[in-house]
Amino acid sequence: MSLYENSVILAPMVRIGTLPSRLLSLRYGADLVYTEEMIDFKMLKTRRVVNEMLNTVDFVMDDGTVAFRTCDAEKDRVIFQIGTCHAKRALKVAKMVEKDVAGIDINMGCPKTFSISGGMGAALLKQPDLVKEILTELTSNLSIPVTCKVRCLSTVEETVQFCKMAESTGIHALAIHGRTRDERPRHKCKHSYIQDVARELQIPVIANGGSSDIKKFSDIEKFRLACGASSVMVARAAEWNLSVFRKEGPLDKLELIEEYIKLAVDYDNHWTNTKYCIQQTLGSEVQTEQGTQLLASKSPEDIYTVYGMMDYYNSVHERHQLYLAKQQEVEER
Ligand code: FNR
Repeated sequence: MSLYENSVILAPMVRIGTLPSRLLSLRYGADLVYTEEMIDFKMLKTRRVVNEMLNTVDFVMDDGTVAFRTCDAEKDRVIFQIGTCHAKRALKVAKMVEKDVAGIDINMGCPKTFSISGGMGAALLKQPDLVKEILTELTSNLSIPVTCKVRCLSTVEETVQFCKMAESTGIHALAIHGRTRDERPRHKCKHSYIQDVARELQIPVIANGGSSDIKKFSDIEKFRLACGASSVMVARAAEWNLSVFRKEGPLDKLELIEEYIKLAVDYDNHWTNTKYCIQQTLGSEVQTEQGTQLLASKSPEDIYTVYGMMDYYNSVHERHQLYLAKQQEVEER
């Protein structure tokens, strides 16, 4: 069975879809996890480094910033999303990560000015020839599956036509967000557009855009059925509570945050990203005393103190320090 059939998927989300969130989603029951969108130009400035201390593979910028970190635990389940408007550049990036991820996705839905002005994201919905070129370049030259994530066009006919064109390039699946480029989350998700695309395509269609009505796992299946799709991709409902992927029901946010922090510590996630992800989980609860303390935190230690996780942090930190000291010893010999 294809990876993309009958799957519940963590959607690509900038800043949210970093390694700790992806691993936690998988632990709770997600079948696949998409990375945040990685812009091709940025990825091309990185180099691949095997990080033996963390057991990760890192793509690192010259200044030491980790642009993308992954590990074995997600290797067969992680889909790398690229922001691009150029076939050769997209292929170069895909080749860089081909051995470390399960699939490549091209973002054709982002409506942000940065993407549109660069000809990326939803701008591609108006460039079918370029889309064909990009997807064909990838499907012809990669050993891993290729997908794309689109939005609705202005009519259902145009939407189906665009998706069929994408399908003809040999992609393995297509995700569709049931809103047009100009629509925002307050607008209703167009289930009927997704239904028509799912009916017309032979490849698995992944429905997206249902988070306003997704509070628990069973709501994900309801959304899938309403769209007649093969799979569902969840963004905001997971941003608010990653345990939405648990069949047994979502966890209390505090319990979830503790599990999240452990992974953030284990994988040395940048503390500002950790803080942002916890903030998004808290939502309006950020007004509580603990939330206020989180907002005021100015270091990783501040965050871990708020959630009583300093002992955990200290034990991992000590282990890392020992590893680094041993490495230095070896190098000095
Ligand atoms: C997004 N979305 C998004 N889409 C994409 O293709 N690449 C990305 O990097 C992002 N980043 C992103 C960040 C955040 C914080 C949000 C909330 C959304 C869009 C997302 O994947 C999805 O299409 C929409 O949110 C609709 O799905 P839901 O939220 O109704 O499940």
